[in-house]
Amino acid sequence: MLEKVDEIKQQIEAFQTENPEELEAFRIKYLGSKGLIKGLFADFKNVPNDQKKEFGQRLNELKNFAQEKHDALKATATKAQSKANAPDDLTRPGEPLPVGSRHPISLVRDEIIDIFSRIGYSVEEGPEVEDDWHNFTALNFPEEHPARDMQDTFFVNSENGENLALRTHTSSVQVRIMESQELPIRIIAPGRVYRNEAISARAHCFFHQVEGLYIDKNVSFADLKQTLLFFVKEMFGEKAKIRLRPSYFPFTEPSAEMDVSCTICNSKGCNVCKYTGWLEIMGCGMVDPNVLENCGIDSKVYSGFAFGMGVERIAQLKFQVNDLRLYSENDVRFLDQFKAVF
Ligand code: DAH
Repeated sequence: MLEKVDEIKQQIEAFQTENPEELEAFRIKYLGSKGLIKGLFADFKNVPNDQKKEFGQRLNELKNFAQEKHDALKATATKAQSKANAPDDLTRPGEPLPVGSRHPISLVRDEIIDIFSRIGYSVEEGPEVEDDWHNFTALNFPEEHPARDMQDTFFVNSENGENLALRTHTSSVQVRIMESQELPIRIIAPGRVYRNEAISARAHCFFHQVEGLYIDKNVSFADLKQTLLFFVKEMFGEKAKIRLRPSYFPFTEPSAEMDVSCTICNSKGCNVCKYTGWLEIMGCGMVDPNVLENCGIDSKVYSGFAFGMGVERIAQLKFQVNDLRLYSENDVRFLDQFKAVF
């Protein structure tokens, strides 16, 4: 009997494989419930009593030996298997994944936010459906001002008879902030605005603006000019110039429109700047004392400036896009071109 144990032990010792099927056959043959070792255990009763002790020990050793051998072979087999499954060339480039791109309007809006954040402006938002007070009245629009006209403004039917409209500009956010925030105020308000216009290459019924507002003691027009110059140089490069032309807005006094030197032709004159070398990108001015008072701010103590710029217009200059409609058509051939920008 003991010889049988030795014989099996030698067989087990000699066995080698990396093949999982052969290994399983080994397990069944030696360790299975009908295997050789189980068989020897069954023979135990036939062993003479004086040999039972030694036989038992040897049998247990054999069983452990077989189990250890099996486990060791299994570990190398699994390793060999995972090596075999690995791709042939680990340095081969991966499959390309189709990735989207950011919309040019978002890219430009985020860059504007970034530039003003660097000089201490925080970002605010207001509702797109706005009431008459915030969009017009508090901003010093006279009752009969043409901007309130049906031709410019999309009015919204309200259940309680309140005068609501889709905001025609982000200046409405100025009012909300002046009414609710502590002084001094230094904010920008990006957002979508709506006007009742026929859609063409140069006009759309919705577009995007970024409003800016700075209110403190002793704020002057020189501060406004320097802030805008800083912005333009950050946005269009060191060489860019600005020009302020006197203008009129009900909510600022004095008011101006700001032109930037045409980046497309380097101010030499082209069809985008209509051969003037300049392009208008925003309106601005000193906040009218009436507006400050409408929002509960003492205009004898505080002054401030405001500005409002068109995001599409800036995007047009940066990316040389000459048709406003492209921004809302979602044509992938157009959008794809902004993948590598910024
Ligand atoms: N709200 C004006 C518009 O939509 C732009 C504007 C002009 C905003 C002058 C201002 C400002 O804050 O001071 O055309």
